[in-house]
Amino acid sequence: MSVPVEGFSKLSKNQKINWLVTNYTKNPEESKKVLEQYWNNDASVQKLHDEFIENTISNYYLPFAVAPNFLINEKLYVIPMAIEESSVVAAASKAAKFWLERGGFKSEVLGTEKVGQVHFIFKGDKAKLHQFFNTIKPNFYKDTASITKSMEKRGGGISDIQLRDLSDKIEGYHQLHCTFETLDAMGANFINSCLEQFAKTLQEGAASYIDFTDEEKAIEVVMSILSNYVPNCLVKAEVSCPVEALDGDTIAPNEFAKKMVRAIEIAKAEPYRAVTHNKGIMNGIDSVVLATGNDFRAVEAGIHAYAAKDGSYSSLTHASIEDGIFKFWIEVPLALGTVGGLTSLHPLVKLAMQILQNPTAKELMQIIAVAGLAQNFAAVRSLVTTGIQKGHMKMHLLNMLNQMGATENEKQQLVDYFKDKTVTNASVREALEKIQAK
Ligand code: MEV
Repeated sequence: MSVPVEGFSKLSKNQKINWLVTNYTKNPEESKKVLEQYWNNDASVQKLHDEFIENTISNYYLPFAVAPNFLINEKLYVIPMAIEESSVVAAASKAAKFWLERGGFKSEVLGTEKVGQVHFIFKGDKAKLHQFFNTIKPNFYKDTASITKSMEKRGGGISDIQLRDLSDKIEGYHQLHCTFETLDAMGANFINSCLEQFAKTLQEGAASYIDFTDEEKAIEVVMSILSNYVPNCLVKAEVSCPVEALDGDTIAPNEFAKKMVRAIEIAKAEPYRAVTHNKGIMNGIDSVVLATGNDFRAVEAGIHAYAAKDGSYSSLTHASIEDGIFKFWIEVPLALGTVGGLTSLHPLVKLAMQILQNPTAKELMQIIAVAGLAQNFAAVRSLVTTGIQKGHMKMHLLNMLNQMGATENEKQQLVDYFKDKTVTNASVREALEKIQAK
C-alpha cells in the first residue's frame, strides 16, 4: 500500500488529500470526511491555518478551556488553557479558588535575558583570537544596526557578546555567546538574524585580519542559533499562608503541610519522582503556553534543562514550613512572546490574550508560572490526601462513556451514579450494562 511521492508539497490541498487517503487509508471516502469535518467553515480562517505550515490537510483540535479565580499580584485572571487531559483544568480551577481564599499568588520576574550562540572552530593562537575579537566587537553591533534598530527604539537589543573558549571539549571549539533583551517578543527571529550577521562579520573580519596566519583567517563557523536554555529569563511564583489555614481536606492542616513538604523533598531527591512531579507542573504551563500561541517545545526543553542545572534532575517547586507559615513556590525559565508570531495571527490566541487582559511578556511569564505552581499544588495535594485516581477518573468518566457509546441520557444517569462511587473501567462498564439491560 505504501508508495513514495515526488513533489508532494506542490500538489493542491485536494490532490494531497486524495493521494493520501487513496494510498494510506483503508476507506478513502470515510478518511476524507474525517479530515473535512475539522475544516473551518470560514474559508479565510481555514486559509490562515493552511498557511501556518506546509502540507496542511486539516486542523487538529484541542479543547480550549478557562480556569477562573486566579488572583495574581492582587489582580484577578481567568486563565485560558489548551489541553486534552481530563482533570487538568478542574485541578487548576480548584487550586485557584483555594488560594484566592488565602491571599492569592505572588509572582515576580527575576530576569529576561535571552541567549544565542555562534559556534565556530578556531585552531590558531588564542591570544590573537582574543585580540581580534576585541577589535571587531563594535562591528557586530554596527553590522546588525538595521536588524536591531526598532528593538533598540523600544529599549531592547543586544545586551552582550562574549568570546568563549570551549576547546577543552572539542578541539578548536569557540563560541560567540550572546545575550539579548527582546521585550514582549519571544525573539527567535530577531536573535537568529543577529547571530547569522555576527557569523558573517566574524568570518569576513578574520579573513582580512592582518595578524592572523592563513589558517587562522579561515575560521570555520559551524552554526548560529538561539539557545532555548534561558536560565536568566526566570520567573518566580509563590503562595503562602499560616499552616492552620490549610484546612478543608481529609487530613489535619498540620499533617497536610508536612506531607506536602515531604512530597517536594522526595521530588527534589529522586529523579523518577521529579520527572512525574514536573510533568504535572508542565500540565499547567504547556496548556497556557499553547493557548497563548507560544512555543511549548522551546519552553519544555528549557525548563527540563533548568530542572537538571545542579547535576541531577530535580523538582521545579519548593516548599517550606517556617514559623507556622506554609510556603510553596516555583522558579522556572520561560521565554515567551505576547507580540509577533501566532499571537497576532491566530484568532483564538488573540482572544486568549484579550481574556488575559493583553499581558506584557513579563506578565505572561508570571501568569504561566502561577499556572504551573497551581497545577503542582493540586496534583500533590491529591496525591498526599485522597490519591490521584479519585478526581482523575471522575473527570475521565465522560471519555470512558463516550468510548463505550453511551447515550446522553445514559451519561447523565451514570455521572450522577458515580458521584459517590469509585470510577474504574470495569465499574463503569458494569453500571452502563445494567442501565442498558433495563
Ligand atoms: C498527571 O498528568 C500528572 C501527575 O502525575 C503529576 C504528579 O504526579 O505530581 C498527577
